[in-house]
Amino acid sequence: MSTITLPRPDDWHLHLRDGAMLEGVAPETARDFARAIIMPNLVPPVVRGDDAAAYRERILKALPEGSDFEPLMTLYLTEKTDPQDVAQAAASGLVKAVKLYPAGATTNSDSGVRDFDKVRGVLEKMAEIGLPLCVHGEVTRPEVDIFDREAVFIETVLDPIRRKTPGLRVVMEHITTKDGVDYVAAQGDDMGGTITTHHLIINRNHILVGGIKPHYYCLPVAKRETHRLALVEAATSGNPHFFLGTDSAPHVDAAKETACGCAGCFTATHTMPLLAHVFEAAGALDNLEGFASRNGPNFYRLPVNEGTLTLEKTDQPNTWPAKIETGAGPVTLFDPGFPVHWHVKR
Ligand code: DOR
Ligand code: ZN
Repeated sequence: MSTITLPRPDDWHLHLRDGAMLEGVAPETARDFARAIIMPNLVPPVVRGDDAAAYRERILKALPEGSDFEPLMTLYLTEKTDPQDVAQAAASGLVKAVKLYPAGATTNSDSGVRDFDKVRGVLEKMAEIGLPLCVHGEVTRPEVDIFDREAVFIETVLDPIRRKTPGLRVVMEHITTKDGVDYVAAQGDDMGGTITTHHLIINRNHILVGGIKPHYYCLPVAKRETHRLALVEAATSGNPHFFLGTDSAPHVDAAKETACGCAGCFTATHTMPLLAHVFEAAGALDNLEGFASRNGPNFYRLPVNEGTLTLEKTDQPNTWPAKIETGAGPVTLFDPGFPVHWHVKR
């Protein structure tokens, strides 16, 4: 039997939602992860420091008794965001990042940014205080093909913003392309990139060949195989620019299995065994520690966790339920499509 022990991992991009869904999914992440960057795209969004403080309390209440899971809060950047409110929320230690959604790019992004000049003041304040900007990197112009939206964003939005705002620390989240990998890898230590579990496993064929698979649909949408291979190479390489952000994004089955299904893959429950499989297959199990436990805290200037998590490989494949039941309805787990022999030792 092989085993590997890592410092307890963190998830640098997570959707926990609110209400009954929050209660259903929070324990799934808290089981294996010490901390997570919590996405603010609720309805209404988490815009001000006060909103984040209240949401943090709701998350803590949804955790199992005795859990020491720490939610790292973010603010949703709007064209009306007040730089002083952001600075205060950061100075108090409550908020660890601000999230930029281009308006219309994804789930609950309508309050996001249309005119990037309107958020200059906030970005400059963030550069001054060293607060990271987490970016959903896709343009939303209807004429841009959905498979090109990340590459076009880098060239026309991200790079110009970074040039205009020296010192701004940026995480390009859930990168899905070789373009994203190459861009992030070429920058200094003020730039990081998160990679999801599911984008290391599926390409666009998985979504579309042999019938449409709504549980593989997420945003940014999975790209062709060459891009997936670039992501695996980046994640497993040990390059400190890249770290885990699952983008685990629960939607109830009724909202996924429908004529206009929501974007999101739910991977909170089984991410660490899936990653062990991917890293082992790449011959890079030793680099899982950097990707899941070290590179993220280093970027966010937080300590690496003190506890550990042990993964073991057994002859029998691991099994998970097809879905978890939440008070909001059933949520289907991401199916990797192959047997996974890794387990988290409890
Ligand atoms: O697939 C996604 N789901 N991508 C996002 O950017 C948002 C997320 C969600 O909130 O459901
Ligand atoms: Zn997300």
